[in-house]
Parts: sequence; C-alpha cells; structure tokens
Amino acid sequence: MQQPVRIAPSILSADFSRLGEEVRAVDAAGADWIHVDIMDGHFVPNLTIGPGVMKALRPHTAKTFDVHLMISPVDSFLDAFAEAGADIITVHPEAGPHLHRTIQRIGSLGKKAGVALNPATPAKMLDYVLEDVDLVLVMSVNPGFGGQSFIDSQLRKIEAVRKQIDKIGKPIDLEVDGGIDTATSRRAIDAGADVLVAGTATFRGGPDRYAENIRDLRGG
Ligand code: DX5
Ligand code: ZN
Repeated sequence: MQQPVRIAPSILSADFSRLGEEVRAVDAAGADWIHVDIMDGHFVPNLTIGPGVMKALRPHTAKTFDVHLMISPVDSFLDAFAEAGADIITVHPEAGPHLHRTIQRIGSLGKKAGVALNPATPAKMLDYVLEDVDLVLVMSVNPGFGGQSFIDSQLRKIEAVRKQIDKIGKPIDLEVDGGIDTATSRRAIDAGADVLVAGTATFRGGPDRYAENIRDLRGG
C-alpha cells in the first residue's frame, strides 16, 4: 500500500563547505529523510563523499540516513557505511555479482536494504528479491549528477513496481530519485511513489527557502 509521502533531500545539492549546517537546516525545514549519494568515479562518472564524511554528519540529525551507494564493487563498503550511521543502504544490482547476498548482508548489519533501478534496468530485476528488501529506488535520471531532467518512461516502471509491492503486501518504500520538482513529484506520487528524493528542488534559493521548497514538493 502506498504510504504517506516522505521527502528526502539529496545533500548532493547542498553547500559542501557547510554540510553539517545544511543537514541541520533541511532537518528543521521538515525533511523526512536525508538522502546521501555515494559515488565512486567508476560505477558512475562522478565522485562524492565516503563513510568518513558521513560519520561526521551523523550527529547533526536524528533523521533517517538514506544512503544511495553508486559504487562497484559495493560489498566491501557495506560495513563501513553501516558503522558510519546509515539507516537504509541502497545498492544497484549491477554493482556486485550476488544481489541477494548483498541484501542479506545489509540486513545482518541491522540496516534496511534497498535496491536501485537505473533507467534501463527492468522492474523484473526485483522478481526474486522483492520480499527481502525494505525499499525500491527507481532512478528517474541516469545516476551521477544532480540537476538532470526527469525521464518520463520511468513512470511506467514506478507503476509496475507499485503493483508488485502491493501484491506482496509488505510496507516496502517506493522511492523515486532524479529530476523531482513540483510538477514531476505529483506525477511520481500518482504513479505510486511514496518517497521523493530532491536535490536541486530542495536546496534552490538557500536556507530561507528550504521549508517552502519541501512543502511544495509534498503537494502544498
Ligand atoms: C543522482 C543522485 C540523485 C541526485 C538528484 O545520481 O542519485 O540523488 O542528487 O538530484 P536532483 O534532485 O537535482 O535531480
Ligand atoms: Zn540518489
């Protein structure tokens, strides 16, 4: 069943020279989760932060750290991100040889496990693992950068995954990531998403605007 919409600002669009303050600001502005994008310059053509920076951010908020790992091979980093304070750890099926084992490992670390689907990755990838995950992340842009345009074809995938989740009846979060603004957020929610990642749309205009930006993404 579709759950109430939660907003997860991606700190990729925050001011990196003041990350702690930025996390506190979006927390105070009503963010539900903090989305942390981890990129390795190999799985995706960009580099961001590692577990050390994430650990330093952890004391700045009590909100859920929703950690999106865009690194390959991913398995050797799961423990470090768990220790650094992740609450949810999401991986791409292409980032390791044994997705089921990776999901099991995240669970055994006491964390929620998510699977992220790139725009060209079919929903079918979830067929034999969906019951074991806590979250599905549908990428509505190619991973690597903020500020890209929403890829419309992903709405059909959100609808398909929503059906699969509802059939199982487990409260699996359905998150959409990339190109979310006030218009695309509405379409993603209508298609069945219940967590919206938003970088550009949250952080635009600076700290005075964060609360309003987040409210607008929720649909007013
Ligand atoms: C892209 C990241 C996204 C990104 C979204 O690889 O996974 O989380 O920060 O940025 P916007 O909201 O600007 O499209
Ligand atoms: Zn992300």
